[in-house]
Amino acid sequence: MKAETSRYALIAITLHWVMAALLLFMIWLGWNMDDHEARYQLHKSVGILLLFLTVVRVIWRAMNPPPPLPEEMPAHEKLASHLVHMAFYGLMILLPLAGWLLVSTSKFKVPTVLFGTISWPHLPAPDFLRGDLAHAILENIHSKGAWVLIILLGLHVAGAVKHEIGGEEGVLKKMLPGLFGKVAPPKTARGYLRAFGTAIIAFALIALIPIAGSGPSDAAPAESAPVAEGEADNLSPNWTVNYEQSEIRFTGEYDGAGFTGTFGDWTADIEFHPDDLAGSEALVTVRTATADAGKKLYNDSLKGQEWFDTNTFPEARIRLDNFRETDTGYTADATISLKTELVTVPLDFTLDIDGDIATLNATTVMNRKAFDLGQASDPAGTWVGEDVTVTVTGTASRN
Ligand code: HEM
Ligand code: HEM
Repeated sequence: MKAETSRYALIAITLHWVMAALLLFMIWLGWNMDDHEARYQLHKSVGILLLFLTVVRVIWRAMNPPPPLPEEMPAHEKLASHLVHMAFYGLMILLPLAGWLLVSTSKFKVPTVLFGTISWPHLPAPDFLRGDLAHAILENIHSKGAWVLIILLGLHVAGAVKHEIGGEEGVLKKMLPGLFGKVAPPKTARGYLRAFGTAIIAFALIALIPIAGSGPSDAAPAESAPVAEGEADNLSPNWTVNYEQSEIRFTGEYDGAGFTGTFGDWTADIEFHPDDLAGSEALVTVRTATADAGKKLYNDSLKGQEWFDTNTFPEARIRLDNFRETDTGYTADATISLKTELVTVPLDFTLDIDGDIATLNATTVMNRKAFDLGQASDPAGTWVGEDVTVTVTGTASRN
């Protein structure tokens, strides 16, 4: 006899197939992302999206019990089918949570930017989870969990196919939209708003953590950067920078391609006398959190602890002195105070003075190792080139 059970509601059908496709894609991606930084970011983005959809699905299901299985189905098969479904739900929560915990406790402090747009915080994790053993266990849960999912999928599909072939109308077709067979439509589905609303609020609150400034969890206690020697000197600025027309730009190599960026907020006090180079001096203060390298992922990385660590060291300071004339222009000693490092590099520049307007073009190459930048995740310069070229261009007017 044919059991006229009702179908799943459209929302359950949509979530089922979209999530099934995304889960399979995620497993493929997980196995094929070594040495592809962009794929890691995509994996994390889709994984967090799946966690979001799981929350929606679980809340919605609690308000909309699934349609019953065919009456003639043996009790042990019903139980098996139920257990597989519950195990699926367990994995849909465990897998992304384990992945999120993995990246949150990794010694590579790579930020997560969902779909290149939303900065996603790390989970606050106790110290014992950061050890090698705990990390290996987490990795195993994540990777073996994917295999458990594959095995369950085998059982799940076998079950669905068996009942379909067995002519039990209403198992596979329950999970297909109404076009595919005469399975009665469901009773009115309810709770869309509650399911989506709760999930959106919960995830929006998590996404707000970095904006509120309390994450990421690895913020170090504040300590001040060393003061560049001579910073307290009394400088009598005789030039005013035209910031609109001036920029401090950094360029380097990332993953075989170039990257470039500028600092949005910096100030310079300049005392420069072409006829009294010994009495010339400049102090530049750069707000490191305003570094903009064009992509949110790069900018979030730069703010992180192992790069500029902008929470602890909001400013970098550069003192220019010991000016000398060269064949092509000038050179000066640039003493850069960044994080806990104090490094002096030569800065070659040209200066064209036309009446009261001076046009500057300066370049220097810095080794990021000397500034302890990116030394935990990429000490050998595999991804991010060791040399970073800094150029300063712009105009200033005489006071
Ligand atoms: C349901 C969602 C997910 C599935 C099905 C999934 C699946 C996988 C698979 C199959 C691998 C390869 C494991 C191996 O090396 O054998 C992997 C690796 C990885 N996944 Fe996921 N993942 C999910 C969610 C996430 C999330 C949300 C994150 C982080 C926010 C994440 C972070 C990672 C990382 C960092 C690795 C590399 C681990 C390593 O190098 O050992 N995953 N994932
Ligand atoms: C990774 C892939 C998949 C996952 C995680 C998954 C998960 C689930 C879950 C959790 C349910 C129970 C829904 C509920 O009652 O709340 C379900 C039902 C169902 N799934 Fe899948 N599924 C996947 C792939 C498939 C595939 C490929 C098929 C096609 C053969 C399929 C056919 C069905 C059918 C027919 C039902 C309804 C059966 C019933 O009520 O017993 N699923 N699935």
